[in-house]
Amino acid sequence: MPLLVGRRVLLIITGGIAAYKSLELIRRLREQGARVRCILTRGGEQFVTPLSVAALSEEKVFQDIFSLTDESEMGHIRLSREADLLVVAPASANVLARMAAGIADDLATTVLLATDKPVLVAPAMNVRMWEHPATRANMATLAARGVRRVGPAAGDLACGETGAGRMAEVADILAAIADMLAAKALLAGRRALVTSGPTHEPIDPVRFIANRSSGKQGHAIAAALARLGAEVTLVSGPVAIPDPPGVRTVRVESATDMLAACQAALPADVAVFAAAVADWRVAEPAAQKRKKQEGAPPPTLSLAPNPDILATVARLETGRPTLVVGFAAETENVLDNARAKRRRKGCDWIVANDVSTGTGTFGGDDNTVHLIGADEEEAWPPMTKEAVAERLAERIALRLEARR
Ligand code: PMT
Repeated sequence: MPLLVGRRVLLIITGGIAAYKSLELIRRLREQGARVRCILTRGGEQFVTPLSVAALSEEKVFQDIFSLTDESEMGHIRLSREADLLVVAPASANVLARMAAGIADDLATTVLLATDKPVLVAPAMNVRMWEHPATRANMATLAARGVRRVGPAAGDLACGETGAGRMAEVADILAAIADMLAAKALLAGRRALVTSGPTHEPIDPVRFIANRSSGKQGHAIAAALARLGAEVTLVSGPVAIPDPPGVRTVRVESATDMLAACQAALPADVAVFAAAVADWRVAEPAAQKRKKQEGAPPPTLSLAPNPDILATVARLETGRPTLVVGFAAETENVLDNARAKRRRKGCDWIVANDVSTGTGTFGGDDNTVHLIGADEEEAWPPMTKEAVAERLAERIALRLEARR
């Protein structure tokens, strides 16, 4: 049985050499039973013809917001209303920027601004454009609004350079579409607790001890669990990224505050501890700013151990979540250390990631993890933190279902 029978995809083809792959995408979507309507932007028209798009989709192709015929036959609002999913493939740097800024200056961006349907983008551009801070910021804004992304892949680019920027393969875009359209409320009625970000341990009113966690991994997990229908409380240390949509976010500063917020969020069916919690705090933070004394030696900080939040929750005698998942951030002997950490802290699964210098795990967009349980271990390929979150959320849903 084809995967997408009766599902309606609105495909927006913007300018880029990868637009030719969109023709193949239309063909594959139709093979899977989806109805595909297409918007071709002016840029997209430079790479594929309206005729080939119309022939493959067997639908009228929409190009112009000011076309009276289009507006009388099918208003731009109806175009989005009559779709289950909007897919932008290829998504140029320009369209991502206009989406992030909320600009509606052509049919594609107007529909994207007017829609309340899920949106998937498949970016395709030169590696430098992809890595430019502006594109990164635009992508982060869109992700925070719930826009999903597939790719880009790394490799040789049409511009002659090598790196990330190639549009994801059609099979991967198709898989992401199937995933989004099939997204069932696997976790409906379940409660989830997720920790994320660093903790700040005060030295005095202006200084603190912290670490490099950005919250990207933990926030993505909270969002992925919410997309599967869970009622999620995210307890987050201080981060610069927005709260994920559809999630109750509790912001805290220190490990002690984080423990209290976690305890208040229980009971939960699943708890995922992705926060990088400081193991120690300053035993006696100064009430006033510590002053530099001329000629005096630098002060020595006396540290006290912080509560272990994961271990506290995992070892609860009553009210322990059915599934407790920790993370292990390791810089050496990653797997052995993670296995030992899982046993020591008493969690069911631990997600091991290598955070040694050069991996970019702290703060970056990608992660390479191992999922470790008492009798199971899986090595996951390198992927985005969002993809790690999606996969982990699915695993959690399956495990909770098995224990129902
Ligand atoms: O935030 P990002 O920039 O996206 O980076 C993601 C990440 C690298 C922070 C994340 O993937 C990760 O590995 N999180 C765990 C970081 C960590 O503190 O690991 P750890 O090995 O020191 O701690 C093991 C586990 O115990 C973790 O689940 C941690 O949340 C928990 N812990 C640790 C100490 C403590 N006092 N209380 C805890 O709950």
